[in-house]
Amino acid sequence: MANPSLLILAGDGIGPEVMEQVKRVIGWFGDKRDLAFDVSEDLVGGAAYDAHGTPLHDDTMAKALEADAVLLGAVGGPKYDDLDFSVKPERGLLRLRKEMDLFSNLRPAQCFDALADFSSLKKDVVAGLDIMIVRELTSGVYFGEPRGIFEEGNERVGINTQRYTEGEIDRVARSAFELARRRSGKVCSMEKANVMESGILWREVVQKVRDTDYLDIELSHMYADNGAMQLVRAPKQFDVILTDNLFGDILSDCAAMLTGSLGMLPSASLGKPTENGPPRALYEPVHGSAPDIAGQGKANPIACILSFAMALRYSFDQGAEAARLEAAIETVLANGARTADLMGAEGGTPISTTEMGDAILGALDASL
Ligand code: NAI
Ligand code: MG
Repeated sequence: MANPSLLILAGDGIGPEVMEQVKRVIGWFGDKRDLAFDVSEDLVGGAAYDAHGTPLHDDTMAKALEADAVLLGAVGGPKYDDLDFSVKPERGLLRLRKEMDLFSNLRPAQCFDALADFSSLKKDVVAGLDIMIVRELTSGVYFGEPRGIFEEGNERVGINTQRYTEGEIDRVARSAFELARRRSGKVCSMEKANVMESGILWREVVQKVRDTDYLDIELSHMYADNGAMQLVRAPKQFDVILTDNLFGDILSDCAAMLTGSLGMLPSASLGKPTENGPPRALYEPVHGSAPDIAGQGKANPIACILSFAMALRYSFDQGAEAARLEAAIETVLANGARTADLMGAEGGTPISTTEMGDAILGALDASL
């Protein structure tokens, strides 16, 4: 059988720097675990604009649709700030999400014990935290029509529309339930059914999908504002949180920061399951291209490496190998390895991007 294919789009700024370490990790799994990938690389964002005058070439788009999974670094940077909107680096990423139809955005909030002091919450509230927010990504109020700023009498009115079809709710609910089956089997769905009709429909459809096809899942519902309170009060009560685009945008940022640094946060965006394989999928760190530290060897590669761990788990059904990689990261952090973004009040000397990669590869070797 052919090896699974992985398209790497490193992008701009620290994107290529952190991706360099991911490539070493991918190579390690090929050498030491007999888990080889057909890796190809291409350009996205400003790098693609510089080469082709477009932030995503059609050929690259076609390759992304063919690949078993896409791994992206980051796009953007001050050099491109004055470009026309239609060719801005971000447009490359948006096109990928749209044409791959990535409607389910997975954002984990996982607390590595060695970094529990980084949280703004008390250590015992976050130690051991491991939750996943599933955010609907392609519909809702960011896309609904009508939208715009209109004249009404003698003043202007700004309008956006929260709109969800049953089909859109159904498919993201399935994605959350499938995910929960690989975890604790618990899903909490969040909306505001108390004040929004779209929320009433959301709750109905989610419950119906569960009652029809996912009787093994323990489903609860919560109003999203209460959900925000519960996330900062007692986040460990949750496992998978399912929510819409707008609430998910806010709740996932909030949950992510329970665990500390931007340099630690991975994400996955999944589409429809393909005929006889995993869903279309794009994995990327939550952070951007960090122009303030680009080219200095300071970037923390862990967010991007954890994104590859998510690919192992969700695209390639290699949960045990994903856990091995996460455990290696836990180990190096416990041993005190810190890039500059992870330096706490206690001080010390930060290590470089490459040195963090070295440490993780060392811990992987030690895991054999
Ligand atoms: P950013 O995430 O690039 O940086 C925010 C801060 O966090 C900076 O101080 C940066 O040095 C630090 N940081 C981020 N990632 C880090 C890492 N791995 N290791 C150590 N420190 C890290 O966000 P910012 O500054 O708002 O945006 C910079 C550029 O990135 C802009 O052009 C923006 O449009 C783009 N961007 C791209 C994203 C993407 O590709 N998905 C997401 C967010 C921003
Ligand atoms: Mg956000």
